[in-house]
Amino acid sequence: MNSAVRGKAEIDILLLEDSPTDAELVQHALRRGGPGFKVEHVDNKRAFIHRIEQRVPDLILSDFSLPTIDGYTALAIAQEKCPDVPLIFVTGTLGEEVAIETLKKGATDYVLKHRLARLVPSVQRALREAKERTGRRHAQEQLRRSHKQLRTLSVHLQHVREEEQIRIAREVHDELGQSLTGLKLQLTWLASRLPKQSRLLHDKTRSMAAHIDETIQAVRRIATELRPGVLDTAGLLAALEWQANQFQTQTGIICEVKAEMKETLWDQELNTAFFRIFQEALTNVIRHAKATKVEVRLAEAGGQVVLEVKDNGRGISEAKIHNTKSIGLLGIRERAALLGGILRIKGERGQGTTLTARIPKTSMARARLHSHENSHH
Ligand SMILES: Nc1ncnc2c1ncn2[C@@H]1O[C@H](COP(=O)(O)OP(=O)(O)O)[C@@H](O)[C@H]1O
Ligand SMILES: [Mg+2]
Repeated sequence: MNSAVRGKAEIDILLLEDSPTDAELVQHALRRGGPGFKVEHVDNKRAFIHRIEQRVPDLILSDFSLPTIDGYTALAIAQEKCPDVPLIFVTGTLGEEVAIETLKKGATDYVLKHRLARLVPSVQRALREAKERTGRRHAQEQLRRSHKQLRTLSVHLQHVREEEQIRIAREVHDELGQSLTGLKLQLTWLASRLPKQSRLLHDKTRSMAAHIDETIQAVRRIATELRPGVLDTAGLLAALEWQANQFQTQTGIICEVKAEMKETLWDQELNTAFFRIFQEALTNVIRHAKATKVEVRLAEAGGQVVLEVKDNGRGISEAKIHNTKSIGLLGIRERAALLGGILRIKGERGQGTTLTARIPKTSMARARLHSHENSHH
């Protein structure tokens, strides 16, 4: 951490210079530039390295050719040990080509010894730029961190929501279902004990039984809509077909599902992701597409599962695809990304919209992908 960050007024400058006279000239120039510079002078390679390792300076001033070390080496050492510290060459002569080369290699600036008036402005500019760089890096790091946190949160929320739907679906199905079945049995018992001639009472029990049956159907429907059991018992394809059928019946929009494979009892995470993506795609078709037909394709290619949902409606615009307010699309994009997959959306005006989701099939492939991703942080 440099002294500017610590809030200490003094700027810690390390000067590498073999000539005592030149070192004095440089220090004089700095003193004349005002208080606040604390200069430590070293005159050979070993002392230079030692000092940097002991305490990282705020800035390095270096002669270009010393008996024990040349400028390029000094620069390389500084870049290895303290890459964020600016280094300015202060030299007697420096050919234009060499000067350009040093800057290319990462030196901040160079100042000629017969023009030391340039030294203080150069130092000040270097320090200012270094501070700005640090600030920018901090901001970027913070942004990355908060982005990561948001992702984690989104994973968590989706997971919680899915779990809750599974639980509610199960409870509604089991508890209400059983209780209604029990009610119906009791009603049958009652009906069998009613006097044969009381038609009014028999009519009443029949209509009650019919009512209970309808309620049982409703309970099943609600549970299935929360989470279709077929997804876990018969696989993704069965669930997609069920949903497509449901959609077609309710909207009158034709919905065809084509698949290359039969066995789609994949892991729950994968199946859930694809199913929810499909549901959102269909909801969008109802709400936005003005389509008459939807074609769905489920395929496997190169270790990935691919789901394509294609409508023949008005076509999504480029702006809507990338709009940050498109929360539905953002949600399913995130769902695919969480499993290491991608979502692609394409719209052609008047020609329809195609949504394609690709996700690695096995959790092993996904785990590899995640650890790879994490190794970048
Ligand atoms: N199949 C589609 N056809 C045409 N436009 C679509 C389609 N799907 C999405 N859009 C457009 O993209 C926008 C964003 O979709 P989405 O993120 O799901 O948000 P929402 O459905 O809540 O409006 C929609 O408002 C709509 O304008
Ligand atoms: Mg939507």
